[in-house]
Amino acid sequence: ALHTALAKQPEAAWNHPDWWIATVREAWPDDWQTILASADQPPPMALRANVRRIGRDALRARLGEAGLDARPVGEDGLILDAPRPVRDIPGYAEGWWSVQDPSAQRAARLLPLQDDMRVLDACAAPGGKTAHLLEHHRLRLTALDSDAQRLERVGDNLRRLGLESADVSLRCADAARPADWWDGQPYDAILADVPCTASGVVRRHPDIRWLRRADDLARTAALQARIADALWPLLTPGGHLLYATCSIFPQEGESQVRAFMDRHPEAQRLPAPGHILPGGPDDGDGFYYALLRKPA
Ligand SMILES: C[S@@+](CC[C@H](N)C(=O)[O-])C[C@H]1O[C@@H](n2cnc3c(N)ncnc32)[C@H](O)[C@@H]1O
Repeated sequence: ALHTALAKQPEAAWNHPDWWIATVREAWPDDWQTILASADQPPPMALRANVRRIGRDALRARLGEAGLDARPVGEDGLILDAPRPVRDIPGYAEGWWSVQDPSAQRAARLLPLQDDMRVLDACAAPGGKTAHLLEHHRLRLTALDSDAQRLERVGDNLRRLGLESADVSLRCADAARPADWWDGQPYDAILADVPCTASGVVRRHPDIRWLRRADDLARTAALQARIADALWPLLTPGGHLLYATCSIFPQEGESQVRAFMDRHPEAQRLPAPGHILPGGPDDGDGFYYALLRKPA
């Protein structure tokens, strides 16, 4: 009887608003139940080794000495057996690692980079991916974000991780309005980790689903399109743009990028994960990645 009653009240049964359930169901007819259920599972705590300071395996050994077990994930990551306060994990102040979800850790290796490239991280705060890019390459990088307070955290993170340099600058500005901030020099690579509904990370922010309204999705999707369109002309011929969101909604992922391709038919799509559903083999957050290349 309880089951039947709950089936009539999907909001209560799934602990998500009706519009959210309908959107996930339509997008993922085979996986919607798993996706909604995963939002109420505790998320893993994952670290990313700062390879400028310590390799992932060496970090794992140091954690082990301190009695913390962790398993490798991706190329630079470790998933802790149990979440802990950051101060209780060796090497925080020393900048050996950052807390970062396994799906978010994929960005840095997807973007083809070389030392000395001119790179724009267009929606950078709090700097998780900015730092990862800089851990692997010495770049001439601009980290842009429209939120001044959040941008300060990028600076804090880069300092702690030892990644500050004269080649790295932070800029508070609107990525959709390059006329306000662009110096006219094209970028070799752009990371557009655009603002989104955060529908892929609800297990980390259980209130998100109740705070969002149905029309937020259309609004964020429109902002993402404006940002992507504004950034595309800033890319040098042969340059790469990595579009990323922590959303599982196709309106912010695959449909968004298909519409972009219609507006910019010259853009070439290169292999990238596309939608990553929450959970999965890496136990990562829900995410979306598309890699676009401007013809040389
Ligand atoms: C998904 S978060 C970025 C996370 C970051 N890349 C990381 O890995 O730590 C999106 C960011 O976009 C910023 N943002 C929102 N609208 C923007 C705009 N019009 N121009 C630039 N940044 C914007 C937000 O302040 C937020 O910090």
